[in-house]
Amino acid sequence: MIQDVENSLNAAPSLLVIFGGSGDLARRKLIPAMYNLYLDGLLPEGFAILGLGRKQMTHELFRALLREAAGKFSRQMIVEDKWTTFEKSIHYISGEIEKRQLYDDIAVFSKKLGGECNRLFYLAIPPTSYSPACRGLCQAGLVSAKDDSPTSRVIVEKPIGHDLSSAKAINAVIADVFHESQIYRIDHYLGKETVQNLLVFRFANSIFEPLWNHHHIDHIQITAAEEDGVGTRASYYDGAGALRDMVQNHILQLLCLVAMEPPWSLDADVVRDARLEVLRSLRPIVGEEGVKQYTVRAQYGPATVHGEEVPGYRREASIPADSTTETFVAIKAFVDNWRWAGVPFYLRTGKRMKKRTTEIAVQFKAVPEVLFNANKDRPLDANLLVLRIQPEEGFSLRMVSKRPGSKVRVVPVDMDFQYNQAYGGVSPEAYERLLLDIMIGDATLFMRRDAVEAAWSWVTDILTGWQKQATKWLPEYPAGSWGPIEADRLVEHYDRKWRDT
Ligand SMILES: NC(=O)c1ccc[n+]([C@@H]2O[C@H](COP(=O)([O-])OP(=O)(O)OC[C@H]3O[C@@H](n4cnc5c(N)ncnc54)[C@H](OP(=O)(O)O)[C@@H]3O)[C@@H](O)[C@H]2O)c1
Repeated sequence: MIQDVENSLNAAPSLLVIFGGSGDLARRKLIPAMYNLYLDGLLPEGFAILGLGRKQMTHELFRALLREAAGKFSRQMIVEDKWTTFEKSIHYISGEIEKRQLYDDIAVFSKKLGGECNRLFYLAIPPTSYSPACRGLCQAGLVSAKDDSPTSRVIVEKPIGHDLSSAKAINAVIADVFHESQIYRIDHYLGKETVQNLLVFRFANSIFEPLWNHHHIDHIQITAAEEDGVGTRASYYDGAGALRDMVQNHILQLLCLVAMEPPWSLDADVVRDARLEVLRSLRPIVGEEGVKQYTVRAQYGPATVHGEEVPGYRREASIPADSTTETFVAIKAFVDNWRWAGVPFYLRTGKRMKKRTTEIAVQFKAVPEVLFNANKDRPLDANLLVLRIQPEEGFSLRMVSKRPGSKVRVVPVDMDFQYNQAYGGVSPEAYERLLLDIMIGDATLFMRRDAVEAAWSWVTDILTGWQKQATKWLPEYPAGSWGPIEADRLVEHYDRKWRDT
């Protein structure tokens, strides 16, 4: 029987104001997501989108720009008459975030719509502009108090800072104007279908949870690998690196979902409390010795990938030749609580790796070395559960089975489940789910301030340890590989190795 767990899909009438409406994020993600919600009949009766930017543009030109982008990036094809109706709700105002005029114009526009719309302010702008944007909104009387109806919400993107103190500063700027319950910090990984399914998988099945602990699990690997290099994001990336860009947010969130205790309800703050506990239980990795023992960082070197010569990281345009920014990081982490005592969580992420994949692999302990596992030279494969997040969402469970025949031959077999095969079609994009949740007012899939700061606290210790190492160069791994050989030493156990997925 299909069981609907209620998260009412009824969004109230909403005005989505996108600061940075003409920017890359709005064009590639936000507008296509809104259009798909519209096609699926999930947008509220009264909705409007107001794009903001510095460039002078008419509404018509702005709509044409978004129409082109939606044609490229929308999950579902553009249906002309549907788009024509949808785009009537899109408007544009040009102005400087730092100038009062912009907020007066937003207020006039908002009044024209009538007073009953929730106001959602999406800050798709550099974090340095958050402060003037929040202040401007407040001074123009566009932010309602936390319990007022219609409500105001603000949405912020990563990166939230580049270390703990800068994250605290950004959070403080937003908190000056908005109450925590009005702030939606996006980590788009949390909007992915398989990531949401993790809680269902763990807590709606009876067979996994009893095994989900140090008694039965040998270790867990979380991999987020990209095939691409730095591309057009070179200067941003060189100031950030893999640890800040991927681990602080996406990978730690996956770790939280896989390691958290069962929440006592599905209320946003109860689930977020459970995720936070994981971050607080992470064993700190401190000082030069700590980072030496538990982390490996590296940069991609030149190689031929799919028949094409690709440059090493330090030869990429806009990357300094002496850069020590990591394009790969591997970490051996421990969640020091009762459930996970002694279980390593191997985390790795990198650019220019062998293939694009994000997955969580839960390696169960081997069976005793008797009966079918008596031969020490040929140990049986232990059970392995792989939760694939991208590109093909699904999961597989490796078991051992007897191969048909008169001899007793045991071989590993995979039970495989693929989302698109089971349910057909393409799953909604993460931003579709997240934008809908913002309109509904469900904050479960968003990062709370304390979690962002707890994640930064753990990551900042590692950054500080790396700084103390004062490294002049990083080891290289060939582009198109699974990373440097140095990463293998993190997995020094005799029957553990990184997965070649
Ligand atoms: N792009 C992504 O996929 C992505 C993913 C995750 C997070 N983010 C984050 O989202 C934010 C936006 O990224 P983006 O890639 O969309 O940047 P972008 O392409 O450079 O766009 C920036 C937008 O902000 C506007 N803007 C900048 N300064 C302004 C000012 N002083 N006054 C008024 N408007 C101003 C720009 O307007 P004009 O063009 O008219 O100047 C433009 O619309 C960044 O914080 C980024 O880190 C982006």
